[in-house]
Order: sequence, then structure tokens, then C-alpha cells
Amino acid sequence: MAKQNIYDNEVFFENFQKIRESKINFNDCIETPILLSMLPDLRGKEILDIGCGMGQHAKQYSDMGAASVLGIDISEKMLEYARAHNKAHNITYQQMAMEDIYLIDRRFDLVTSSLAFDYAEDFDALLKDIYTLMKEDAQLVFSMSHPMATAYDGTYDRFTRSESGERLYANINNYLLEGRRKIKWVLDGYELYHRTFSSLLNSIIKAGFTLEECRESRISDEMRMQYPDVFGGTVHRPDFVFFRCKKWV
Ligand SMILES: C[S@@+](CC[C@H](N)C(=O)[O-])C[C@H]1O[C@@H](n2cnc3c(N)ncnc32)[C@H](O)[C@@H]1O
Repeated sequence: MAKQNIYDNEVFFENFQKIRESKINFNDCIETPILLSMLPDLRGKEILDIGCGMGQHAKQYSDMGAASVLGIDISEKMLEYARAHNKAHNITYQQMAMEDIYLIDRRFDLVTSSLAFDYAEDFDALLKDIYTLMKEDAQLVFSMSHPMATAYDGTYDRFTRSESGERLYANINNYLLEGRRKIKWVLDGYELYHRTFSSLLNSIIKAGFTLEECRESRISDEMRMQYPDVFGGTVHRPDFVFFRCKKWV
């Protein structure tokens, strides 16, 4: 299975860091508030955060009362940042690919992941591995790029625009063709996996989960009007999709 590690590329990392540290970004303004609103009470919970990146979520979970957080990520650079900027006595950061989580010899009350499952080539296998790592009644809460956003091949503008540059329509391409997409995001050659919405749902069902909640990202009209250059296109299609699943035994 392919394990892309573009976040350890110096130029990619620096640019990603700039985006993540800017005040007005898709993570802090759109993704994180929705994901946090879907979490159960974290007090006393043992949490696994897959693709933890720079550790912002792990730190939030610790601050929200988690008993422990294990953050795993394939990128040493992201983990270096996490250890320096988002540490706490109950957070452990470990370099590990999500393809290898079956090696973890513990069980968790909650598994989370923010915008990392886009990189999973075998989504069925990943969800099955996660299911095994969960205690009875544990939950899995994750976000990923929305299938309407990943149905894009990088050869055209994501939006059809008016003469003045206003985004009129979202452009999607080959929605029904699943698989790897190589596009330019931060750098050329960025790879992710596109799946249809029904594929995502069926992977969740096949792994044995009960789906408790599904949401599609949106941002307030105020934010969209205030930052039209950043969020102007978000009215045409959701950027992210979110799921909360439960392991019933
Ligand atoms: C978009 S970032 C999100 C980081 C963090 N969850 C956040 O919300 O800020 C995606 C993260 O997934 C990690 N990643 C990519 N492929 C991975 C893999 N195969 N196994 C584990 N982590 C991976 C990257 O290194 C990166 O830190």
C-alpha cells in the first residue's frame, strides 16, 4: 500500500504551517468547530487521534478532560511541531502510518481523525483496523475531504467564475471514477484518494459500525461575506464531510 509522506517535504511543510497558523483558514474556521461539536464528553476517555499532524486537536482533547491522547502521524516534521507546541502530560505522539495501526496493542474509548483519511488507499481495511482497536461502545469521529471536493483532477479552476472573478459554479470531474488523484495543493504531485459518498457509507457499514451522525461542512453567511476570497466558494459545495460512528457489541 502506498504511504505518501509529503508533509515531510520541507517546502510543503513550511507552506502548510503558514496556512495552519494563519487566523483565517479552513481548519479553524470550518473543520474544527464542526468536529468538536460532534464529539462525546471526553472526560476520562482514552483517545487515539489518527493523522494528528501538528497536534492542535490532541491538545484540545487533553484540555477537554481526556484521560490520555495517543496522536499518530506518518510525518516526523508534523510530530516535531506537535511535541514542541502542543504538549501535555497525557499526550503521546508517535510516528506511525495509519496503515500500521493494527500493531497498536491497546484499546480506546474514542478514535478521531481530522482530514487524514483522504490519504488512505484501502479505506475498508483502515476502518476494520480501527474497529478492532476500539472498546465496546467506543466511538469514531472523523472528518475528510468531501467527495464533491475530491472529484477534481487539477487541470482546471475549481470554480467557473464571472468576469469579475466571482465564483458562479463548482466544477467537478469524474465523480464516479474512484481512486488516486494527483493534483496541485501547496505543491505539485499532492496525492489523495477520491471516493463516492456511497462508498464512504458502505465502508462504514462493512466495518460493523452504526452511523450516529453525518454532517457536511458549511460556514456562516457572515464569514462568507467577510472573507469572500477565502470562503466565497463554500456555498456551492461542501469542502468536508464528518461522521460519528459507534461500535455496538
Ligand atoms: C491535512 S493534515 C491534518 C493534520 C491534523 N489532523 C489537523 O487537523 O490539523 C493530514 C495529516 O495526515 C498525515 N498523514 C498522511 N498520510 C498518513 C498516513 N499514511 N499515516 C498517518 N498519517 C498520515 C500527514 O502527515 C498530516 O499530518
